[in-house]
Amino acid sequence: MKIDLLNVSKAYGQGEAQFWALKDATVSATEGDFISIVGPSGSGKSTMLHIFGCLDKPTEGEVRVDDQLISTFSDQQMSRIRRDHIGFVFQQYYLNASMTALQNVLLPMQLAGVKGGKEKAAAALETVGLGGKLRSYPAQLSGGEQQRVAIARALANAPSIVLADEPTGSLDTATGKNVLDMLMALNRERNLGVVIVTHDETVAQKAKHMIHVLDGRIS
Ligand SMILES: Nc1ncnc2c1ncn2[C@@H]1O[C@H](COP(=O)(O)OP(=O)(O)OP(=O)(O)O)[C@@H](O)[C@H]1O
Ligand SMILES: [Mg+2]
Repeated sequence: MKIDLLNVSKAYGQGEAQFWALKDATVSATEGDFISIVGPSGSGKSTMLHIFGCLDKPTEGEVRVDDQLISTFSDQQMSRIRRDHIGFVFQQYYLNASMTALQNVLLPMQLAGVKGGKEKAAAALETVGLGGKLRSYPAQLSGGEQQRVAIARALANAPSIVLADEPTGSLDTATGKNVLDMLMALNRERNLGVVIVTHDETVAQKAKHMIHVLDGRIS
């Protein structure tokens, strides 16, 4: 799968309050890529990632998913693309506190009616090194383990591309490194596309491509 942003701009708000968070961005991501997005707070990194992830449509410019223009897509088609091809990891883990690790990973697949979800969820947790914690609740897991549950959830349905918005932002250096190493291994071994927003220069440097964003523009 390939996602192309072509001269994409994104404005929030209307009239006097209108603010251009992203200006004229042209960038692509596909399987096997490892792209980092860096830039100051408020420069438009998350905005770019949301457009990459078909969570949002641009105000101007084109987004193509496998050469199909998404401007013509319904919300339902957008959510199908996300479900089938894209995994998301955020700085906050957004785990359900009343569900076990396994249930958390399983939930999106259940909602989407994916068959064999339980096996896929267990396998994904195994991949992130949590095969022994399937029945643990978030409160019983460390921050790094919770983030790995969130990564397992993003990976469980075998996406082509994972989009990660500061996935190591809430973790200590060593745990953050583990999470990053894992994403890099999946990139190498399974050709997973990874697009990662980070404030961490050393993390950013490890990517094959680095995108600098400043005031909404790629510099
Ligand atoms: N829903 C929104 N409505 C209005 N303005 C928004 C909205 N979302 C983001 N913005 C503005 O757009 C700009 C870019 O936001 P964005 O979240 O993309 O920044 P960022 O680079 O991810 O920053 P950070 O590193 O702090 O997460 C900011 O100035 C922000 O205030
Ligand atoms: Mg952000």
